[in-house]
Amino acid sequence: MIELAWINGEIVPLADAHVGIEDRGFQFADGVYEVIRLYNRKPFALDPHLQRLQKSAAGILLAVPIALPALATEIGKFLARASVSEGMIYLQLTRGCAPRSHAFSQTKPTLLFYARALPPLADLATSEGVKLITVPDERWKRCWIKSIALLPNVLAKNQALAAGADEAVFIENDRVTECSSSNIFAVIGRRLVTHPVGSKVLPGITRAILLELAPRLGWPVDERPFSEEEALRADELFITSTTREISWVARWNDRDIGQSRCGPVALKLNAALRERVQRETA
Ligand code: PDD
Repeated sequence: MIELAWINGEIVPLADAHVGIEDRGFQFADGVYEVIRLYNRKPFALDPHLQRLQKSAAGILLAVPIALPALATEIGKFLARASVSEGMIYLQLTRGCAPRSHAFSQTKPTLLFYARALPPLADLATSEGVKLITVPDERWKRCWIKSIALLPNVLAKNQALAAGADEAVFIENDRVTECSSSNIFAVIGRRLVTHPVGSKVLPGITRAILLELAPRLGWPVDERPFSEEEALRADELFITSTTREISWVARWNDRDIGQSRCGPVALKLNAALRERVQRETA
């Protein structure tokens, strides 16, 4: 089965989907993106993802060139033709092609998306924990924008992999912000703690769902910065994203943090998240 892509309203084989070399996404990283999980051929939490796309686009003074309900319809039509059942949609919006100039000019935005299969996730209860390394948070101060300018994140991730770890966690002024491609949570004194979204943290969709679920399951939430020392003393640490859902943290800078398996809070939240996924994508 050939892979397909949707580009500016047309569905074509992925291999034939091209953008010009003067696309501003290519030359200036002048664009935003979304990663949406597919379960059972259905997009999960599509509305919040599209809302975030619109906010990110507005954050770079760009309008989504199609109304969000129409975009959701296009995604549905695309998925009926694509062969991916368990995976993700990568969606990208750039300002489009124009002769290279920092100044904006009248361009037709480039909007595209395609689907990719993802391997099944390991069972959290028996999974190995992830290893984190800390890196200074040298990113810009508009991390709420899901920008395609990901070089600091890419460098951080590769630094983690080179060190034998799985993910890099950004530290700014001794505060734990987020990871290179995930949000981070700590369980401290029976409360769920995570850095507020905004200048230094992406409003993760998985994060938002967990913040909604946690109080119902008996864990009050504190959206506040926390220090590296608090993280190391936390009862549990876990990271979240659309593609990984929840992963528990086992090691921090090659140091054991006292968890030998996934903790009860992450497990309960994971069960509630799975239930939500089942309900929405059955
Ligand atoms: N990344 N923080 C950063 C910097 C991210 O890149 C991501 C997701 C998250 C988690 O957000 P969400 O729960 O909405 O996926 C937090 C995606 C998966 C990626 O870039 O591939």
